[in-house]
Amino acid sequence: MFWLAPAGFDLLFVLDLCLSLQSSLPSCLAMVIVHRLELIISHLSVAVGSVLWIITRAKKRMVNFWSRQVRSSINWGVSKGAMSTPHVNGRWTWYEAQEWDSSTRGVCHLFQSCGSRNTSCTFCYTGDRSCYRDETEQRVSAIIGGIFFETSINDVEVIEQSGHCKPGLVEDTPPEWVRWGHASATVGSSLYVCGGRDNFEIKNSCLRYDIVRRVWENDVSPMKFSRQGAKAVEAYGELYIMGGHNGTHALSSVEIFNYEDGTWRQLDVPMIHPRADHCTATHEDGIYALGGRSLPDSGLVASMEVFNITTGQWSELKPPNLTRADHSCAFMENGLLVAGGRDLSGNNIGTVDFFNLTNHQWQPMAEMVIERYAFGLTVMNDSATAVGGHNGVTALKSAEQYSMGMNEWRLLELELDNARSEFSITGIPLSLLPEGC
Ligand SMILES: *[C@@H]1O[C@H](CO)[C@@H](O)[C@H](O)[C@H]1NC(C)=O
Ligand SMILES: *[C@@H]1O[C@H](CO)[C@@H](O)[C@H](O)[C@H]1NC(C)=O
Ligand SMILES: *[C@@H]1O[C@H](CO)[C@@H](O)[C@H](O)[C@H]1NC(C)=O
Ligand SMILES: *[C@@H]1O[C@H](CO)[C@@H](O)[C@H](O)[C@H]1NC(C)=O
Ligand SMILES: *[C@@H]1O[C@H](CO)[C@@H](O)[C@H](O)[C@H]1NC(C)=O
Ligand SMILES: *[C@@H]1O[C@H](CO)[C@@H](O)[C@H](O)[C@H]1NC(C)=O
Repeated sequence: MFWLAPAGFDLLFVLDLCLSLQSSLPSCLAMVIVHRLELIISHLSVAVGSVLWIITRAKKRMVNFWSRQVRSSINWGVSKGAMSTPHVNGRWTWYEAQEWDSSTRGVCHLFQSCGSRNTSCTFCYTGDRSCYRDETEQRVSAIIGGIFFETSINDVEVIEQSGHCKPGLVEDTPPEWVRWGHASATVGSSLYVCGGRDNFEIKNSCLRYDIVRRVWENDVSPMKFSRQGAKAVEAYGELYIMGGHNGTHALSSVEIFNYEDGTWRQLDVPMIHPRADHCTATHEDGIYALGGRSLPDSGLVASMEVFNITTGQWSELKPPNLTRADHSCAFMENGLLVAGGRDLSGNNIGTVDFFNLTNHQWQPMAEMVIERYAFGLTVMNDSATAVGGHNGVTALKSAEQYSMGMNEWRLLELELDNARSEFSITGIPLSLLPEGC
């Protein structure tokens, strides 16, 4: 009966207001009753909301508590029992964090072998290459933002090999947060959307989508630089935002976000070449950056460079014959597949080059069915899959997949709901989606 306490005043107020508007007494009474009911319902929903909130908090605390237990035992290297996951491939090794970088303390300190860092193996053990980066783990792909002609799109589509996942699996970005030419990656249980532009300006802000709670948040501190056409990768539990341009100049700087302490830091060694609308991909402890535009001149960047996370150094690798921008790349079959984009004269191209990691040689592969640029490339079912983009006339809905065995691209039945280009695409581990795809 607690809602009756303030009701005396409220009741008189409503009656008074009602009569002063010269309604009849019965209709006024009816209004008061409706008002009363509304009040009761609102109180009830607040009460239910509070209970739900308390349950959520309790659950979160339990999860936090549990992950702290796991984490602290990992940091002290006594966790062989705590990680129940079986060894995935036995190649990845946990290191005690403090040995090499206290700013990235956490659960993601895995290296290919103990020999790749100057540290003893006392506090490391081999296990699941975790932080949701188990390469054998199944993922679906989220397609975020982008444009169709001059119109920005705030819809998020989630796809897998055989079609769309159920609608609303990832909520659409709020309309006031539209983006294109942005960069995205999934780190931990969040999906990050950084930089790019909206209808007004190039952004330095990032949005975060909590995959489990299914909400978009604006709680990530901004990057130091505004960037359009930057690229993002996740590596060892951190988010790397690389290059892009600020409207006049291509950038070589790299900013790294650590989601555990919510801070950004600059990579002390920038890329060798400033680049925008390039492509990036990771393989083991390497982050590869290839091609792109070199503003303020209108040239393209004829180079490929790799950042070695273990040594902290960039080095140049042999670039492919054809220089491109607005292309995409992805690792498959122990090599980097580079597809599509635009050449120096701005024409869209469908040619494909493959960088073989075994012998560091480039070789041409079968051309795409559709010459597309500003599209998304993702690996689904072990095959590189190109979706959307622009064919020089219009934005596209179509998707095609490359088979290394057959050396051919074939169009998939899968089509995007919205034709779009300049969007971002990022993998989401199926394990984060309790109801699956
Ligand atoms: C590795 O660390 C040891 C002791 O900290 C040092 O003496 C040695 O020079 C280091 N080796 C290399 C290759 O950096
Ligand atoms: C863009 O970046 C260049 C080079 O870093 C800098 O000189 C210029 O002032 C920047 N422009 C804007 C608009 O921030
Ligand atoms: C990075 O450097 C380490 C140590 O030299 C080496 O073992 C590893 O293969 C390098 N990674 C890449 C991607 O080049
Ligand atoms: C990569 O190069 C190695 C060694 O030359 C070769 O055995 C392998 O088949 C190549 N991979 C592809 C996909 O062509
Ligand atoms: C690059 O050019 C050379 C010589 O012109 C040619 O032999 C080679 O096949 C080309 N490679 C690719 C990947 O196009
Ligand atoms: C995945 O690829 C294999 C071999 O290429 C194929 O047989 C299978 O049907 C594909 N799976 C899906 C879901 O399309």
